[in-house]
Amino acid sequence: MAVDLLLGLQWGDEGKGKIVDVLTSKYNIIARFQGGPNAGHTLVFNGKKHVLHTIPSGIFHDNAINLVGNGVVIDPVIFKKELDKLEEQQIDYRKSLLISRKAHIILPTHRLLDAASEASKGKAKIGSTLKGIGPTYMDKTGRNGLRIGDLELSDWKERYRSLADKHESMISYYGVELEYDLNELETEFFKAVEVLKSLQLIDSEEYIHQAQKAGKSILAEGAQGSLLDIDFGTYPFVTSSNTTAAGACTGLGVAPNQIGDVFGIFKAYTTRVGSGPFPTELFDEDGETMSRVGNEFGATTGRARRCGWLDLVALKYACQVNGVTQLMMMKGDVLSGFKTLKVCTAYKYKGETITHLPYNIEPENLEPVYTEFNGWNEDLTEMSESAQLPKALNDYIAFLEKELEIPITIVSVGPDRKQTIFR
Ligand code: GDP
Ligand code: IMO
Ligand code: MG
Repeated sequence: MAVDLLLGLQWGDEGKGKIVDVLTSKYNIIARFQGGPNAGHTLVFNGKKHVLHTIPSGIFHDNAINLVGNGVVIDPVIFKKELDKLEEQQIDYRKSLLISRKAHIILPTHRLLDAASEASKGKAKIGSTLKGIGPTYMDKTGRNGLRIGDLELSDWKERYRSLADKHESMISYYGVELEYDLNELETEFFKAVEVLKSLQLIDSEEYIHQAQKAGKSILAEGAQGSLLDIDFGTYPFVTSSNTTAAGACTGLGVAPNQIGDVFGIFKAYTTRVGSGPFPTELFDEDGETMSRVGNEFGATTGRARRCGWLDLVALKYACQVNGVTQLMMMKGDVLSGFKTLKVCTAYKYKGETITHLPYNIEPENLEPVYTEFNGWNEDLTEMSESAQLPKALNDYIAFLEKELEIPITIVSVGPDRKQTIFR
């Protein structure tokens, strides 16, 4: 059976966790394929909120297998904390959670290197989540990394020491003040590693291959968003993995011709956390309203998310790069009460009007061109059927579908599992 993908089309935090949770009942296996604890995926059901970082968002469903694929980077300390939280909820993850031996490990010194690199950049910092993501993927592509499978080797501690020592000398290269107690960090790390080793570590590409042959349905869960992709995002203000559809092939070992539906998730407006260009960013009352009503604070770092209008030029680009077959629009409820809504449909770029994403989207070169829409006042959060949606919202949706040439099959009207309208 083909593997379906679900990924974010903007700068992350589109609501991927919520929709994966909603769709899990239709799948046998949920698999994360890239990123790591930089992600924060929020699920709300039965009046409770849960935030997952590395563990796939299908974990609350009894019958689903949750797989952490080879493309993911794992911090054992954060992973253990996630497991502890699941235990508090009486979630029996031992049978349903599988980890790829080929996934790379985030060491305490990777986190320190992330912090040192960011500090040394000053104002030009990426605004990373400081989870060690960049340095860990650098070690992966530099062929120095440690993988989950290495934990089963007799000399893994020597391998660890050698890499951590190298990192320490690299930290001093940055020449920034960094206070840390490596002994303390390592004690916590090794304790967490033991927990990780007690889980099911597998050759995940083989597992997925056999599952496909046996007719199991698989949903691959993306992290971050397409505009944070290492190749196609707003480089260098991106993350260090391929967040786009191709990342699911390399991050799970699924061949391109085995990909089925590609679900693209986007917010009805746009947010971004961290540094980097954001053409439709708002610095006025409208932006503040989105931030307040949408409660736009990062699920991983708690930082305020920057807010702005929907950028259709960027969204079209993301749909193309991913081959999106169905769209899902999140947080429409947050826009209730706006008299007028704006959608960026083109850019004025170096004196010309263009409708594609150019190499450089820094504000000095680029100005968004907006199309305006009537807003709506109705509260959407209690609505459960498409027929209840206000006309102005339906017009907004119809315009996006026409421009993107892809159907919007889900409209989300609140954070809860139940606040989901299928079209
Ligand atoms: P993810 O990283 O893509 O999984 O998204 P996050 O969990 O980081 O951020 C999405 C936030 O929006 C979370 O706080 C969700 O609970 C919330 N959310 C998701 N869908 C909706 C929606 O339709 N309306 C509202 N108001 N909140 C939503
Ligand atoms: P989810 O999966 C939003 C951003 C960071 C920073 C940049 C690089 O919850 O959508 P990194 O720590 O990866 O080196 O940071 O990417 N970023 C995210 N922004 N949602 C995320 O994940 C993100 N993961 C990383 O803020 O700008
Ligand atoms: Mg998030």
